[in-house]
Amino acid sequence: MNNFANNKIVLEAKNIQKSFNEGKNSVDVIKDLSLKVAAGEFVSIVGSSGSGKSTLLHVLGGLDRPTEGMVFLNGQRFDNLNETERGYKRNQYLGFVYQFHHLLPEFTALENVAMPIMLRKESQYSEVKQQAEALLERVGLSHRLTHKPGELSGGERQRVALARALVTKPALMLADEPTGNLDRKTAVGIFELLSELRNELNMAMLIVTHDEQLAKSADRILHMQDGIWV
Ligand SMILES: Nc1ncnc2c1ncn2[C@@H]1O[C@H](COP(=O)(O)OP(=O)(O)OP(=O)(O)O)[C@@H](O)[C@H]1O
Ligand SMILES: [Mg+2]
Repeated sequence: MNNFANNKIVLEAKNIQKSFNEGKNSVDVIKDLSLKVAAGEFVSIVGSSGSGKSTLLHVLGGLDRPTEGMVFLNGQRFDNLNETERGYKRNQYLGFVYQFHHLLPEFTALENVAMPIMLRKESQYSEVKQQAEALLERVGLSHRLTHKPGELSGGERQRVALARALVTKPALMLADEPTGNLDRKTAVGIFELLSELRNELNMAMLIVTHDEQLAKSADRILHMQDGIWV
């Protein structure tokens, strides 16, 4: 039994399958995957390129629908909601870090990070700005607040994307290669920040990574190959 056995389950996936239809060829990317992540737990997913890690993360994060199977967020069915409802739940409970950052190019770093809270329409920009600034400082970017994504390095963009995922203090962070573009020292700094936030917020983390050190620091490592756990 692990340390999290008595914690609430924040994410559960049951028998997920995902196929893409391309004309008459159907590609079965996720064949049959189930998983549970408990509050405060850090789970890493490793597997070779093309094994289906990003596809799975998109399905778990409600960015895409499974072909078969079910996803539950905080005990409630999530995958069958319509796009607006899924967007709402994502904003309430999830922080998502894409493999390729997906920042909004016409907004500054600060505005990109503030965006998820602004979408809630509950706070004034002045308050939100302070929270976004504080987080950008924690990822080492207080000198880049007004830069737009096109004016940032790859690693800087990745850190802005991390700050954006964390600004809402999510119950669960799903991250696809969050340290992929970072040097070792910066990656270690980001990992320390994630550990602090995990302690502060009891945030669960599901992280896809090729970074062996990051993967090993997880409570549990899942190995994926050709759309199944191995
Ligand atoms: N929209 C799509 N249509 C068709 N095939 C797709 C689509 N998205 C992904 N695939 C295929 O699914 C497989 C898994 O892709 P995925 O991006 O999930 O891999 P990955 O494990 O994240 O790889 P990497 O480590 O390189 O990021 C790949 O072979 C890819 O070509
Ligand atoms: Mg990927």
